[in-house]
Formats: sequence, structure tokens, C-alpha cells
Amino acid sequence: MSDVTLGMPQLPAPDYPAEVRARLEADAREVIARYPDSRSALLPLLHLVQSEEGHVTRTGVRFCAEVLDLTTAEVTAVVTFYTMYRRKPSGDYQVGVCTNTLCAVMGGDAIFEELQRHLEVGNGETTEDGKVTLEHIECNAACDFAPVVMVNWEFFDNQTVDSAKRLVDDLRAGRTVEPTRGAPLCTYKETARILAGFPDPRPGAVEAGGAAGPASLVGLRLAKGESAPGRVVSPRSSGAPSDEPPASHPSSHDAPQRTSASDPQHPSGPVTEEGE
Ligand code: FES
Repeated sequence: MSDVTLGMPQLPAPDYPAEVRARLEADAREVIARYPDSRSALLPLLHLVQSEEGHVTRTGVRFCAEVLDLTTAEVTAVVTFYTMYRRKPSGDYQVGVCTNTLCAVMGGDAIFEELQRHLEVGNGETTEDGKVTLEHIECNAACDFAPVVMVNWEFFDNQTVDSAKRLVDDLRAGRTVEPTRGAPLCTYKETARILAGFPDPRPGAVEAGGAAGPASLVGLRLAKGESAPGRVVSPRSSGAPSDEPPASHPSSHDAPQRTSASDPQHPSGPVTEEGE
């Protein structure tokens, strides 16, 4: 009888070089020690292997499975669920154009379309020089700065087609670009290491602030008992505006509107068909 062992099949994947494996194992031990249950360290460990190779390779999946005592199938299920993990070689700078509704109508769709033409790549593709990977992304919770572009998860607010083209040109030329908010930009691999939970060693990076805009903070202000910065005035109210909501119409959208078609006193007068 041969000593065949049965178990979950493991993904075939080459080994890391011994030096890389030893370094990643030391880093992984540090990350795992932060959690009461080792498997909770999977998300940061995926960022860690991404910081090594720029994307999550089969070797990275196998490494995470081995150090966390998971199957490669379990690790793969997580990698394929979250969009922050890349599964193929990509550029130093991941340029994400928000094409969710608000950014789209404010110019995000036009920016994404023009960047595809300008860079000669499609969604998820990388420029020939390996510098920029372009993708369209979902809402960044920065809608009051629409349209928003992110580079390696740093915000570039209120973009235009021209400013976005300048941005990718600067990235490809190696010129310094500053995000609108937050820490200075670094490469995708460096960003991945920070996301794995390791300190950002760059001077001033931790102190660099990045706040949400006034519109995003209205809910927070209300929750704290502060008043909202603005108010809706009923279109039916007359005289001085009141803080009280209109009695019969809870929303101004529900109130019948007086238009020139229905109101002879309207400044534009009633609408009549030509010749009437
Ligand atoms: S829709 Fe683009 S940040 Fe919200």
C-alpha cells in the first residue's frame, strides 16, 4: 500500500526564491500576530504578496494558504471577490476613473473615454511602458468632488479631460504629481505594502490629511446635533422663509408647481399654441 495522502488539491505554483520566502514569512508573522485568529490576517497578507510582485500570483495564493493553514481555494475565493487585488501584471500606477452615476454625468465618462484613446488601452489594460493601468471604478465616496480620478487609491478631485490627460502624461514621464488630498503618491507595490499594515516611512506622509467635502459631512453634522448648512424652502411659501416644513407638502418635489402653462399671472404668461 503506497502512502498516498488525500486532501484538498493545492494550486500548482512555483516557489518564491528562498530569500524572498524568508522575508515574506517574517513579515507575515508580524501581521498574523495582530489578530486573535490567524485567518483574519488574509486580507493584509494578500496586500503583502501584492507588494512583492505587483499582483497576486499563484505563488502568492499558495504562500497565504500555507502560512494561514487555509486551502488555495479559500484564498482564491477572497482574491477574486475584492477588486483591490490584481490578478495579472499591471502598471506602477493604477489610474481609476470613477464612472458611477454622479461622476459619470459630471465628466467621468468623457475622461475615461478620452484616456482610453490617449493611452491606447482599454479597461484593465496597461500602457506599453508598464507605467499606467487604466480602469473604471465604482463610487469612491467622494461625490462632492466629482468627477474623481484615483491613482493608487489617492484622490485627484474635480478632474477634467485635460487635467486627467496631463496627470497620466506626468506619471508616464516620471514627473512628480501631488494628489488633491492625502499622502504623496507612491508606486502600486509601495502602496500595497502600506495597505498590508506596514508603516509609511516617507517624511510627512502620515501627517498628510485628507478630509471629506462639506456635502459628505452633512449627515455627520446632523448626527452630532449641529444644524445643516442649508434648508429647502417650499415653493408655495410666501413672505419670509420659515424653518418649519410646509404643512401639506413634506417635500418640495411633491408640491404642484405653478408654471406659465397653468398660471395666467406667471411672468411668462400662459403657453398658447401658435395661431390660437
Ligand atoms: S460617483 Fe464618483 S465618487 Fe461618488
